[in-house]
Amino acid sequence: MLEHLDRLPPDPILGVMGAFRADPDPRKVDLGVGVFRDDAGETPVMRAVREAERELIARQTTKTYVSAVGNAGFNEAMARLVLGQGHAALAPGRLRTIQAPGGCGALRLGAELIRAAAPDAVVHVSSPTWANHVPLLSNCGLRLERYPYFEPATGGVAFEAMLGALDRLPPRSVVLLHASCHNPTGADLEDAQWRELLSVVSRRSLLPFIDIAYQGLGRGVAEDAYGPRLFCAELPEVLVAVSCSKNFGLYRERTGALHVLSETPAAADAAISQLMRIARGLYSMPPDHGAAIVHGILTGEQLRSSWEGELDAMRLRIQQLRAATVEALTAACRTKDFGYIARQRGMFSYLGLGPQAVRELRDRHHVYMMDDSRINIAGLRLDNIGYFAEAVAKVVG
Ligand code: LMR
Repeated sequence: MLEHLDRLPPDPILGVMGAFRADPDPRKVDLGVGVFRDDAGETPVMRAVREAERELIARQTTKTYVSAVGNAGFNEAMARLVLGQGHAALAPGRLRTIQAPGGCGALRLGAELIRAAAPDAVVHVSSPTWANHVPLLSNCGLRLERYPYFEPATGGVAFEAMLGALDRLPPRSVVLLHASCHNPTGADLEDAQWRELLSVVSRRSLLPFIDIAYQGLGRGVAEDAYGPRLFCAELPEVLVAVSCSKNFGLYRERTGALHVLSETPAAADAAISQLMRIARGLYSMPPDHGAAIVHGILTGEQLRSSWEGELDAMRLRIQQLRAATVEALTAACRTKDFGYIARQRGMFSYLGLGPQAVRELRDRHHVYMMDDSRINIAGLRLDNIGYFAEAVAKVVG
């Protein structure tokens, strides 16, 4: 029965991760998968996570099931983290949250909910978008389309083109938006652009589905959530998929949540009942460990402030690496302007190289990045940034 299955190529991101791990060369540089690294090249367990985990293990007396929506305390804390204390949508009634297996799980739950509500709905994603958005959103049967987003000439957002395209969509189209630290381009919307976007989304009756996977790693915890906070204050319906992989460093614990804002409390009750049924049919219940850790951090005064301090340091490191990357590339390559990298935010930027140059970097210089030349800035170290820039100069010419 299984003998006719085609062998598939590796996942574009996880494939690069595997190739990097298999390379024995000591000079190798991993700019592939989007994980934060410190200046020793490690992805450490955050101190606040270690402490919360220690406390959790000390007090946990059972491993019995939690619930279909996961840890209620975690869900509430995640709503406050994304929306900010005192946000109008936190008042009882319209907002419901379900814990999910990572941001990926949250995206898939959101897609399934949309499919249950409107099987013919079309989801519009930015061009380009994170490679895994495509299977996560379309494998349940939804159709995907793309809207213009990135302007290679400036390294910024092609905002007029984006707005124009969204302004032509039929009502009830779904628009997937990146809250901050756009993956793969690093080009983010400014606050004023979120406000302009809001008026188009509202006028055209579009459903925003916002992916927030890097809160705190761009401009700051509140600043990176400007879009979801604004949209949830002003619109009748919003979906927000949240990941704790990067800002809590909980990658393998698969910790995330889906927030659904509905127009009325009755619609919110219906939405969460649908989500519980969907989750039950996909994986039954989400894993608890990471959510219990995040709950401990966000509700413990000391742990929270320790986590915020660590997150600030991570953000600062990324910002410093962006500046150092531009400096090193500018010194090494006279033919190309990389200044846009310092203006972008979060972990990712494009180098703007073709597939041949990317292959050469990998095969000759052991520098690994995505085939489309997306690099994870946080994968660089001050002691290998020069090697990286020289290698880029060699392939760019
Ligand atoms: C990435 O874009 O590299 C990360 O979000 C990790 C992943 O799962 O793809």
